[in-house]
Amino acid sequence: MLLHWAAVPCLLLPLAAHAHLSATCSSSARHLRLNLTGLMTLARRGFGQRDLDIDGANYLAYLAKEAFDHRSHLLPHACPCAVAVACAWRYAQFARGLEGDLAQHDLAAVYHHMLQQEKVLKQAVPACPLVEIRWWPVQKALQMHTAIVQRLLRLAKEIEQWADSWRQEPTITDEQHEAALADVSAVFESIGLEWWPTRGTLISLLRHGKRSGLLSKGKVDVVDHDVDVMLALPSRQDWPVIRDSVVRRMAERGWHSCLEWYSTSATKQSYKAVTDHLAYGDVLMCSRKNPDVSLDIATYVTEGSIVYAQKYCLPHNLGSGCWLPHEGTFHQSRGKLRAAAIRPLGRCKAGAISVPCPRRPLEALKASLPSTANVTCIALPDVAQRLQRDRWQSDKDEWLSDGLTQEDVDILRSRALELDRQGYMSMTPYISDCWVPEKGAADLRE
Ligand SMILES: *[C@@H]1O[C@H](CO)[C@@H](O)[C@H](O)[C@H]1NC(C)=O
Ligand SMILES: *[C@@H]1O[C@H](CO)[C@@H](O)[C@H](O)[C@H]1NC(C)=O
Repeated sequence: MLLHWAAVPCLLLPLAAHAHLSATCSSSARHLRLNLTGLMTLARRGFGQRDLDIDGANYLAYLAKEAFDHRSHLLPHACPCAVAVACAWRYAQFARGLEGDLAQHDLAAVYHHMLQQEKVLKQAVPACPLVEIRWWPVQKALQMHTAIVQRLLRLAKEIEQWADSWRQEPTITDEQHEAALADVSAVFESIGLEWWPTRGTLISLLRHGKRSGLLSKGKVDVVDHDVDVMLALPSRQDWPVIRDSVVRRMAERGWHSCLEWYSTSATKQSYKAVTDHLAYGDVLMCSRKNPDVSLDIATYVTEGSIVYAQKYCLPHNLGSGCWLPHEGTFHQSRGKLRAAAIRPLGRCKAGAISVPCPRRPLEALKASLPSTANVTCIALPDVAQRLQRDRWQSDKDEWLSDGLTQEDVDILRSRALELDRQGYMSMTPYISDCWVPEKGAADLRE
């Protein structure tokens, strides 16, 4: 009797205790010089999610490739179960590669490999005799394959929804920005978690008490274009539950799609961490339509006197060891930030509402701004950088090419003092980083 492609996962036959090759598998192994006993033994452990040390995993990958390469000899009758198991294992390996930050052509190559494995898998499984699935972990292999396909379909749908909303880089208004912060504030407060704005959002609130601010002669300094916030997790293990709750509550407020991602997903090194399953999803990117606004939620965990976004830990069977990767959210400060830079939290004005702000905003910003950002002077608009960026409508504002005037600096200074007076955090501590009084406006470092 032969196995039916789709029916296998329902059979649930127990695996026999020891690896045992059929007569035809044995003779193929001899003729082709393949270690099919090794393939069976290691695949049983691999699909059984039991410990497979790194040598075992590498050897299994090698044996699976060998079996796949010899498929024309092993199919349809010689040893089809070996091919089925090999293809399913390789499919899973390639699928793991999809979780990193792949270039377009890498992505195409990975898909190509996966389709190829799947095609052969579909030939091999029906050819695998029922008696032999007592030895070969074909059912487990198919269960894993089904689970991966389902996960990829789900992921593809999420990515598509998310990409739809992010592609446009919408131009937003101050009101929409404030409404987004109000949504975030309501959701996080209802869950009772520490949070604060970061990056451009933090700079805008410290500088103007809202997303943009008026300078001299009707000029407008538009600081921020999406909302960036940080969210504290009690522990990494709490994230799935918190994430689902955040996603649900944000959806109730019109944020139709949120995608979990990795703050570390930009470098080769972190790609490896993701495929090795050392990295975990630590970022949630949400977007909404009408109005179109996007929101980045980056999570962190406190440990003693520091906080971090990612901690890579080796699996126990590889000799446990953990380290903070120098990439991801706090990439500019060796993967961590002092808790004293955050707590005790202050308040920032955000239009008509107020939100928590980190105690030492510059330290928090330095830890996580892009490496291209110039953090020497955050109190004043970085005119040169905006002109160069030329990404949003406001980067084309005419006044940018004339630069800042003394009058603008005076306005920003008194705006900071006004925020101080109202009990909010402001740019007051940082204005002197920018301005050299005795030389006047000509020396504004913008
Ligand atoms: C076949 O693989 C098994 C499992 O890893 C290993 O113990 C065995 O030594 C291998 N046999 C040969 C001939 O390489
Ligand atoms: C950063 O800004 C400071 C002062 O605003 C300026 O002196 C410095 O040259 C800038 N650095 C770069 C790399 O642009």
